[in-house]
Amino acid sequence: MSERLRIIGGARLHGEVQVAGAKNSVLKLMAATLLAPGTSRIRNVPDIADVAIMTDLLTRLGCVVESQKGSVTIDVPDEPGHRADYDLVRKMRASINVLGPLVARIGKAEVALPGGDAIGSRGLDFHLKGLMSLGAHAHNEHGYIIANAPDGLHGAELFLDFPSVGATENLLTAAVLAKGTTTIDNAAREPDIVDLCEFLINMGARIDGLGTSLLTIHGVECLQPADHHTLPDRIVAGTWAFAAAITKGDITIKGGRVEDLELPLEKLTSAGAIVTSTEDGFRVKMNSRPHSIDVATLPYPGFPTDLQPMVLALNAIADGTAIVTENVFEGRFMFVNELVRLGAEINVDGHHAAIRGVEQLSGAPVAATDIRAGAGLVLAGLISEGTTLVEDSFHIDRGYPNFVEDLRRLGANIVREKVEDE
Ligand code: UD1
Repeated sequence: MSERLRIIGGARLHGEVQVAGAKNSVLKLMAATLLAPGTSRIRNVPDIADVAIMTDLLTRLGCVVESQKGSVTIDVPDEPGHRADYDLVRKMRASINVLGPLVARIGKAEVALPGGDAIGSRGLDFHLKGLMSLGAHAHNEHGYIIANAPDGLHGAELFLDFPSVGATENLLTAAVLAKGTTTIDNAAREPDIVDLCEFLINMGARIDGLGTSLLTIHGVECLQPADHHTLPDRIVAGTWAFAAAITKGDITIKGGRVEDLELPLEKLTSAGAIVTSTEDGFRVKMNSRPHSIDVATLPYPGFPTDLQPMVLALNAIADGTAIVTENVFEGRFMFVNELVRLGAEINVDGHHAAIRGVEQLSGAPVAATDIRAGAGLVLAGLISEGTTLVEDSFHIDRGYPNFVEDLRRLGANIVREKVEDE
């Protein structure tokens, strides 16, 4: 049995939501615990499917992982395993984040190649090139990356062709135990990376340049387990902000950090929303039909690619015509055809999409292709006349804790339904 969401559009969302820890941080923090034997604890952990997948992966590597409400403890053995199997990596690409810690700590790793996914080809060349500069041997065999560093890693000057989040993280978590100093130039600057650096520093790592595109890592002999509170999920917070604007609603997003969402909130303001800071988050209120907004996605602090589907959903019913440019993932417009099924007027040319806003979308069956496209389709369903069915809603559960429950509390007409598999 699979699940889908049934939405009857028309509600203006109203009320408060609480944002939990960031998926894209917590998964990397969990992988980084492999760097030290003993028990680390991670708090503010969201209740999402991807955390369960990372739990499975770490358990297969010999860790004992225990979940309490909102936190996990991970007891890492002296000799962890070294293989991340294909069945887990294909479900969740962040599984490759064990590569850096395993090579650094035990000198070997076998990690399945993730293959393509619904948002593009997503190479691993920066990860491998960087690890090899740090002294590892790596090759590709039978669908696995086999990496070895029997004599340990050494510091190096690394430069990334593109500020890749995953490559920055894998190289950072390898360099912390390398002999000597490593620099990572053109590093990604996402808040999730700052969070990972802070966790590593708690473990005893020496890292300078947090939040900048030049990270300097002075390798240490060993690290200790640590206790860390994950930062709030800016993409979930941003999704709620767009939900308020799209439905002409009024949502207070508790735990959301305006400083992590400067550009998206500025865009929402130009769409006509009123954004105000609150004691522990921010509030987004919209009184009228939004104006269209031009957006180009870029690495942080640019506009996040993970909020691009929400931008398309908003522009689909906005007053005016907009151009949205996707600069991070080439396949990310795949879900446009689903929005068109709801009546959106969108033309895609390469990595540009031109959207002419219509007064009203009309409900139809659509399918989620990935986490964020799924959330974007739900937002579109909320403003579609009649019933929208979002098939393959498991994608959304990978990244949004209590999404349906929170939407219902805010006034949405949405239910989960079981569907017989064909
Ligand atoms: C992470 C996030 C994802 C977000 C993305 C960009 C997680 C689990 N996922 O993905 O939600 O959308 O950052 O903010 O944190 N690239 C290469 N070679 C490489 C590595 C990357 O060509 O070795 C390319 C990719 O194909 C892509 C671009 O670089 O076009 C950015 O990818 P990257 O920043 O690495 O994204 P992820 O870490 O996979």
